[in-house]
Amino acid sequence: MIKAQSIFKTFTIGGESVNVLNDINIEINDGEFVSVTGASGSGKSTLLYLLGALDAPTSGEIIVDGTHLSKMNDKQTSEYRRKRVGFVFQFYNLIQNLTVEENIVLPVVLDGKKAKGYAAKSDELIALVGLENVRKQKGALLSGGQQQRVAIARALINDPHIILADEPIGNLDSVKSAEIMKLLQKINREKGVTIVQVTHSRESVGYGTREIRLQDGKVV
Ligand SMILES: Nc1ncnc2c1ncn2[C@@H]1O[C@H](COP(=O)(O)OP(=O)(O)O)[C@@H](O)[C@H]1O
Ligand SMILES: [Mg+2]
Repeated sequence: MIKAQSIFKTFTIGGESVNVLNDINIEINDGEFVSVTGASGSGKSTLLYLLGALDAPTSGEIIVDGTHLSKMNDKQTSEYRRKRVGFVFQFYNLIQNLTVEENIVLPVVLDGKKAKGYAAKSDELIALVGLENVRKQKGALLSGGQQQRVAIARALINDPHIILADEPIGNLDSVKSAEIMKLLQKINREKGVTIVQVTHSRESVGYGTREIRLQDGKVV
């Protein structure tokens, strides 16, 4: 379970101190597929990054499966980001001159492990995201939809319990968007991975189980 308690995040914007997140209290149960919505600038990405320990709140606590993120040391924080959560971004963030397979195992290779040991896992993920026919293709030669499939497989390489996705379909047409949303829904339902996505798309909210709407840094 993910709990955010009394979360404030303050940034200095144009010389003024602004509460970008202003007393956020949410609970997300295991197996939920939550969509965080709200106008541009309402604090959606900021909240997602806090849940992923990519940034820390100004005050308040985030507790994931009983662990207070603020109490983790650097090593634990790094492990949390690499193993317990998987990140998916709007612009995929693939290495363009690596192949599909190489991109998918990159997190474990960067972690000092041999790609060979992850061959079976990688095969399973390539099948899950439906990229068998392009597995030797370089990232640069893939369509946006294919690149996002690679990014989703890469996010799953360490069997995270949680996927955090920041506008995963923000750069895709409606057909590709529906395909990616169906894939995320399948991962949520069949693998039981908790998903928190930030989205602007009304249709995409329907693939999830709950909407959390932000307005001016508050849950409405
Ligand atoms: N690192 C930062 N430093 C200063 N201001 C920031 C930073 N990150 C985000 N902001 C500001 O916080 C507000 C919310 O940003 P963000 O969470 O990215 O909104 P959203 O994802 O809902 O569009 C915006 O006004 C943005 O400019
Ligand atoms: Mg954003």
